[in-house]
Amino acid sequence: MTEVDDRIPAEDAPRSPKGTYDVLPPDSARWEALIAAYAVLADRHGFGLAHTPMFEDARVFRRGIGEASEVVGKEMYEFEDRSGRRLALRPEGTAPIVRAFVQHRPPVPWRVWYVTPAFRYEQVQAGRYRQHHQLGAEVLGTEDPDVDVELIALAHDFYRQLGLTRVDLRVTSLGDTECRPSYLELLRSYLADHDGELCDEHAVSWSRNPLRVFDCKREPCLKVTADAPRLFDHLCEPCTVHFARVTAGLDSVGIAWSRDDRLVRGLDYYTRTTFEFTATALEGASNALGGGGRYDLLAEALGGPPTPGIGFGSGIERLLLTCDAEGVFPVPEQRADVFVVDVTGGETARDLVLRLRRAGLRAERAYDARSMKSQLKVADRSGAPVALIVGQAELEAGTVVVRDLVAGTQSEMPVAELLERATLTGQLAGGTP
Ligand code: HAM
Repeated sequence: MTEVDDRIPAEDAPRSPKGTYDVLPPDSARWEALIAAYAVLADRHGFGLAHTPMFEDARVFRRGIGEASEVVGKEMYEFEDRSGRRLALRPEGTAPIVRAFVQHRPPVPWRVWYVTPAFRYEQVQAGRYRQHHQLGAEVLGTEDPDVDVELIALAHDFYRQLGLTRVDLRVTSLGDTECRPSYLELLRSYLADHDGELCDEHAVSWSRNPLRVFDCKREPCLKVTADAPRLFDHLCEPCTVHFARVTAGLDSVGIAWSRDDRLVRGLDYYTRTTFEFTATALEGASNALGGGGRYDLLAEALGGPPTPGIGFGSGIERLLLTCDAEGVFPVPEQRADVFVVDVTGGETARDLVLRLRRAGLRAERAYDARSMKSQLKVADRSGAPVALIVGQAELEAGTVVVRDLVAGTQSEMPVAELLERATLTGQLAGGTP
């Protein structure tokens, strides 16, 4: 009997799915640095890290984000598990955090940050992926407009810290249950009067979510909405007061902003303060760097007690593309501190790299019993300023040759002394005695 050859042929080898990609060294060092910088900032702002599952009961997003939104209606990865549970891969990070809040009822205000992949079946293009990654933060349990300022400031200061300067902030208010329903009636009747004039997509969908028409970039919708009543002109007194306090706060802490009455965003949970940061260094279609706002009704929508909330999310890929476009936040240099060259069989290298690593050094070595010349080549590539060379004579004497790869000088040193030095100084660079 012959065994079936089930190897995938090389020409048909699997690749990462469309709209996804691998993050590998050395570029991944930039991801690491970006996330680390955000973690430090979020911690300073009083946020704790939250990890929630990558998939949820699909209702978290259907109810949370809204059935009429594109993210739910067209882009969500929804499936049944083997027991028939209706699940969805998270298209965003906010609804899961609110689900976790409702489930665990932590004391308020609850301040959490996250870093997470998000999945959307998008039309793939530069800066738009089917798996993207977001850094975000959410605060639940307070209506205080000063928190809105804090959240916007966190995003703003993070962008600044990365070195980004060409970022615009647009802000608006989407009202609340007091003022929005009557406005929507007004908008509906306006759009009904212009029914035949909307673009093909919105001619069909406007009645389900009339606000979305403001988001349409097509000429017919732009024309119709140019004279449409604006929500901002119909806010109730408390929403107006809230917005005034937020924008006064932004002015006070020196954050430039502009009001954008057309801003509606793609998720339906927003109430009151809503904002978006755009990178002017990026192409129009994918230049949203981050966005967020209040979602004071979301906890209730997910079966919880009435609990106001606000947050923002920022795409890691977009952030890095913007850094590229602005020429800031380069890939951090990753070089070894020391490289061990062992031509006596490798046992010394095996033990020495570990002892050096335990002493706090980034120590590297070559493998497979290569020649001295070949090992020195790898040492060069590692960027290490110092090589420790072990030949037969050094092995017998319990020493190593310390070669300064920059200056080209070298000297011999007992291994014990070398390790003591490494422990004391944490590094050997320039360490030829
Ligand atoms: P969002 O605007 O849908 O908001 O996404 C946040 C950010 O994620 C965008 O500004 C963009 O940088 C990035 N992003 C979104 N979709 C993609 C994609 N397909 N490819 C690459 N990057 C993308 C939210 O998700 C809300 N959860 C934000 C929030 C937090 N609101 C309140 N709290």
